Amino acid sequence: PTYSSNNVGAASLASNVTCELADIDWDNLGFGFMPTDYMYIMKCLQGGDFSKGELQRFGNIELIPSAGVLNYGQGLFDGLKAYRKQDGNILLFRPEENALRLRMGAERMCMPSPTVEQFVEAVKVTVQANERWIPPPCKGSLYIRPLLMGSGAVLSVTPAPEYTFLIYVSPVGNYFKEGLAPINLVIETELHRATPGGTGGVKTIGNYAAVLKAQTAAKAKGYSDVLYLDSVHKRYLEEVSSCNIFLVKDNVLSTPAITGTILPGITRKSIIDVARSQGFQVEERQITVDELFDADEVFCTGTAVVISPVGSVTYLGKRVSYGNEGIGVVAQQLYSSLTRLQMGLTKDTMDWVVEL
Ligand code: COI
Repeated sequence: PTYSSNNVGAASLASNVTCELADIDWDNLGFGFMPTDYMYIMKCLQGGDFSKGELQRFGNIELIPSAGVLNYGQGLFDGLKAYRKQDGNILLFRPEENALRLRMGAERMCMPSPTVEQFVEAVKVTVQANERWIPPPCKGSLYIRPLLMGSGAVLSVTPAPEYTFLIYVSPVGNYFKEGLAPINLVIETELHRATPGGTGGVKTIGNYAAVLKAQTAAKAKGYSDVLYLDSVHKRYLEEVSSCNIFLVKDNVLSTPAITGTILPGITRKSIIDVARSQGFQVEERQITVDELFDADEVFCTGTAVVISPVGSVTYLGKRVSYGNEGIGVVAQQLYSSLTRLQMGLTKDTMDWVVEL
């Protein structure tokens, strides 16, 4: 489909916003793209600073065929969610963390990036403009997708002369069709998503293209997704295509340390803090693939997946399963704590929640 792309000023927008919810099936949201009303766009030249962005009607964007992002993958994305509270207020979860991560990634990819303030303001404006697409309480969330790309023309391998920061949003429910039911992972032993010194630790778009082949093969065999190993020793756990991984053994949590090949998840970081605040010991370290065979629980974390329990992992044809096909006790406890916080159902003692 094509969508119109009329520019609108923020002032004229205010009168257009209606709080009447969009007419969609709120009970069956998955994680698929749905066009909404407005997107945010801000541009800047190489060596310059982002200054003034604007809301536009959601629609196609124009890119020159020689844009840096199209030719050499000079692009980043991020992801965060807005929740609608029972009292009607809208909540964001740690948006400054996404801003900081985008800035880190931009440095790695030789791109200018919005300031934290610009990023957070742009997110707020975009969410407000699309308010009717925020699901009712407990039905899901509005997924916010910031993009940063080299939109200027290049031919040789060089940073683009112009950059575009864009935010679009889409209402979402569960990432995996399993919902809170456990997912089944397979370990990939040949293909890797990241290498030391590469870009695995930033949210560059190419990292996600790199997982598609293994993920497609895994899905064809009935697995939910792929768990990657480190590319040097092929022995240490890294992450799943779209999320981080945690193991629980004797009530101690462990997750692969952030060493440059693993995406520093904001949900990962939040779960570590929530777990510690509840008295759990949490280790960030190298985890061998063998430890999976001895774990009590395994779960994934991410903005999109939130917490997803792992029901089984298959490695070189050997399958290990966890629990009685349900979510583990520790994962359930952390899931409740985190989501209650994100939805404004418990007091935010961490100062993580931003109300619009
Ligand atoms: C997120 O969790 O927001 C992500 O960026 C994962 C994405 C690949 C869906």
